Formats: sequence, structure tokens, C-alpha cells
Amino acid sequence: MSNRRTFAIISHPDAGKTTLTEKLLLQGGAIHLAGEVKARGQARRARSDWMKIEQQRGISVTSSVMTFEKEYEGETITFNLLDTPGHEDFSEDTYRTLTAVDSAVMVIDAAKGIEPQTRKLFEVCRLRNVPIITFVNKVDREGRDPFETLDEVADMLALDVSPQMWPIGMGGQFEGLLDFASGEVSRPEGPSKEFLGTRDSDPEIPEEWAEEAELAQAGYPEFDLEAYRSGDLTPVYFGSALKNFGVTELIDAIARYAPPPRPQPAGEARITPEHDEVTGFIFKVQANMDPNHRDRIAFMRQVSGTFKRGMKLTPSGLGKPIAIHSPILFFAQDREIADTAEAGDIIGIPNHGTLRVGDTLSEKDVVRFTGLPNFAPEILRRVQLKDPTKTKQLRKALDDLSEEGVIQVFYPEIGAQHIVGVVGQLQLDVLISRLSAEYKVGAALEASPFATARWLKGEQKLLDEFESFNRANLARDRDGDLVFMAKSPWDVNYQVEKNPELTFSATKER
Ligand code: G4P
Repeated sequence: MSNRRTFAIISHPDAGKTTLTEKLLLQGGAIHLAGEVKARGQARRARSDWMKIEQQRGISVTSSVMTFEKEYEGETITFNLLDTPGHEDFSEDTYRTLTAVDSAVMVIDAAKGIEPQTRKLFEVCRLRNVPIITFVNKVDREGRDPFETLDEVADMLALDVSPQMWPIGMGGQFEGLLDFASGEVSRPEGPSKEFLGTRDSDPEIPEEWAEEAELAQAGYPEFDLEAYRSGDLTPVYFGSALKNFGVTELIDAIARYAPPPRPQPAGEARITPEHDEVTGFIFKVQANMDPNHRDRIAFMRQVSGTFKRGMKLTPSGLGKPIAIHSPILFFAQDREIADTAEAGDIIGIPNHGTLRVGDTLSEKDVVRFTGLPNFAPEILRRVQLKDPTKTKQLRKALDDLSEEGVIQVFYPEIGAQHIVGVVGQLQLDVLISRLSAEYKVGAALEASPFATARWLKGEQKLLDEFESFNRANLARDRDGDLVFMAKSPWDVNYQVEKNPELTFSATKER
């Protein structure tokens, strides 16, 4: 079990995540030719209409799973890499993905630094408190001062940064990477790198860069495994994904430092990987990956036990066991049926709607994992149906898509128009595009009088009372739970003060 490393890559669009993923898979032997991840991505996009949005805007809005293996110090390490959307509008999706990993790699463009609109994405990492390894990509480009990048990361995440590698010159003057641990410099000589020995025996490093490297080594905290694992320090690797520079060091760092599968919160309890039954939770559901086959795959992060194909597990949302006959493991090029899986692994379970995000799966049906919230939407819109005979299809589509986490849906207590809520504008584009492509429902969005929503909790009698006075501002979510629709933040505060015995919650456990 300790040889599993389940991690996510987080980056802003264009920082080089696809290129880095490809190089990681290449080194792991999972693919043979660079370019395959991209090629596969394009094939996938061509198949599915709504992914045109990704293409047009050059963003990635789906997160997927890739597994590969690599030898490290005589041991085979299994890496489960989870991709995340590279746009802040999908930070909720990123948050959910982070519930399923034990650590994260944060990719930053050396030339551009951190753009204000992508801070939210990175800050989500802090919310989950996952340990972060930072990879500063594109050192082969003319760029900013590396010290500036380090300070920016430290500032943004309020943690210590500890550089492990240092670029010797950047952009056109890039000469190689100095590894602080070994004192060795690797240089880009042709496609593979070549060690020229230690820095002391390498008089070719220009004096100013040698001084800069020394300053960097002395000026920042030393690497401390405990501090990294508790989320207080990030080791920083510089490199170039395109030129395959610093990638080996990054994989080695994940193998050596990144934590093995960690315990998961289940109410008061914590379930460790050694727990004596198979348990896991669904953190993502993806439907209609291929519109020709109405497929629907639930992604389960396994928390404990040894899973065997055909095993019966009980989903908490269903209450009766189902046999898992065709669990899927995801490799770079292929999906394979999984015969066994261990804690830390991600398996895909094909199903027709029995499995929902937030469900716990287990043999004994006792454990319930917690910590997969819905967030209060920041944008609310009314859905206007173009063809009134499609009411049923619309409802089904909205239910499905809220299930997947594309949007949240609210059914007002008064009035027939459904309201959708999102955290970022792009989610709305995805909604309209998928409604039309997958459900053949033409719809438009119009302004809604509401600005945000709060889930209501409290004694039934008090809830009923509140309901009878505030019907015009109440809705039910997909699960039928009561939601207060607020016209403004002031509105929320007013009701909170007026109803101290009710809870107005900005998040909801799924
Ligand atoms: P993303 O998934 O994070 O959005 O980024 P992606 O890997 O697609 O990379 C964005 C662009 O940056 C690509 O160029 C890619 O080749 C380039 N790139 C990635 N890593 C490095 C690096 O280490 N050094 C340099 N110099 N460039 C890098 P593009 O022109 O947009 O695409 P393409 O023409 O290569 O297809």
C-alpha cells in the first residue's frame, strides 16, 4: 500500500500541465511517444460536442485519471495522477478532486508567475490542506526573476518555500539546473541530459549565477519532510516540461516525499488504509463521455482494503449491495478492467445513476465518509425552455448535470422556472452546450432575482414556520433539501439574525 502515490496536478491554463503530464507518463513508460496525451485529447474532443468549448477557449474543463508505474530505489511505485480543470470557474470541481488525492503538484509558468484570476484555484489546495510540491515550468523561456516567483508562492499560500533545484540562467541564457542536494548541474545537451559533475568542479557556471544559486540555497528554509506533509512548506523544483528538464527530479520527489494513502475522515472516525474491509467514496461522476453510448462512470477513491473484481459493495445512497463486475482502471492510452485495486487507487464504476457524488461504498455499510461539500453558488440564473414540450427532458438533464457537479439546480417553491447556480460563468456555457448536444433541449438563461443561496437546517417545526412566511424565497435542491434564496448578502445576514435557531449554511455535505 505504501507504494501508492495519488496526486493531482493543478495549474493555470497554458502553464504546461498537458506537456508535463505527457513527460511524466513517458518516463513512467505508460506512453511511448510524446504527443499521445494531446492526440488522445483531440480525439476525445472531436467525439463530444460540448467539449468544443474547451477547444475554443483553450481550457480543460474535465478532470481525468491516469495511472503509471516507475521504479524508484528498487521499488515499483504506482502513481495515480488526477488531472484538474485549469480554470478558476471550475474551482469546485478542483476541490472535489482534491478530496481524492493525498498530495498535489502545482505548476507555475516561470515567465508569467501567478495570474490573479487563477489564485482561487491554488488557494483551494490550502482549503484541503494537501501537501504541495511546486514545479516552476518554462525556465527555458525569457522570464521573471526566480526569487520573485518563490516569494509570490510563499505569499499566496502563506507557507514556507524551499527551493530544491535552481536554474542557471533563464530564457536564452539557460544553461542547466543545479540540484541543491547533490550539487550537480544538469545541462540540456541534446534530447537527454548530461551531468557535468559538481558545481565546485564546474568552473563553467558564470560567477553571478553561482552566487545567485548560493543565495537561494541560504536564503530559504531547508526542506523538512514533516513541514511539507503537514502543508506548511512546499519544495520547489524548476524545470522545463517541454525540454524534459527537471521532470525526473519531480517524479523522484513525488516517490520519495509525497505521502502514501492517508486516512479519510468519516464523521468522528478516521478510516486508515489498514481498515479491514474495502471502503471508498465517489468524488466524481462523468456522464456521456461518449454521446453514442449513454455511459456514466462514477470515480471511486479507494480508502481501505483490497478490492477484487466482482466484489459486492453497498453504496450509502442506495442501501443495498451491488456487484462491481467491470471496474475500470485508467491508463494513459487505455482503460482496463481492474482485477484488484488497493487503497489509494481510483477505479471507475459504470452505472446507470445508482452512484452519486459523495456516496460511500463499503462491504459492511457502516462507514460514512464526510467532507465532500457543495458550495453556495455565486451566480444564479433562471432557465428558460425554448420548447415547452421538453419540460421532462429538461428536469432530467438538470438533475443529471447537477449530479455530475456541472451546476447546482434549485426548484423554487413558487413558480415553474428552474434556477441553476454556479460558482463560475464558464459552467453556464458548459450547461447550455451540453443541454443541446446531449439532451436535445434548447434553453436560454435569464437573470434571476437571487444572488446567492443558503442551505437551511433546524428543528422541523421551526423550518415549517419559516417556510410558511418565506415561500417566495425558498427552493428545494436536487435532494429535496430546503434552500433559502437570497437577493443579497445583506438579505442573508438579516435572516440569520432574525432566525438564530436556524442554520444558514454556505456549504452542504454531499
Ligand atoms: P496547459 O495544459 O497547462 O494548458 O499547457 P500546455 O501543456 O498545453 O502548454 C502550453 C504551451 O506552453 C504549449 O505551447 C507548450 O508547448 C508550451 N510549453 C509547455 N512547457 C514548456 C516549457 O517547459 N518550455 C517552453 N518554452 N514551452 C513550454 P503552444 O504553442 O500553446 O502549443 P503547441 O504549439 O506546442 O502545441
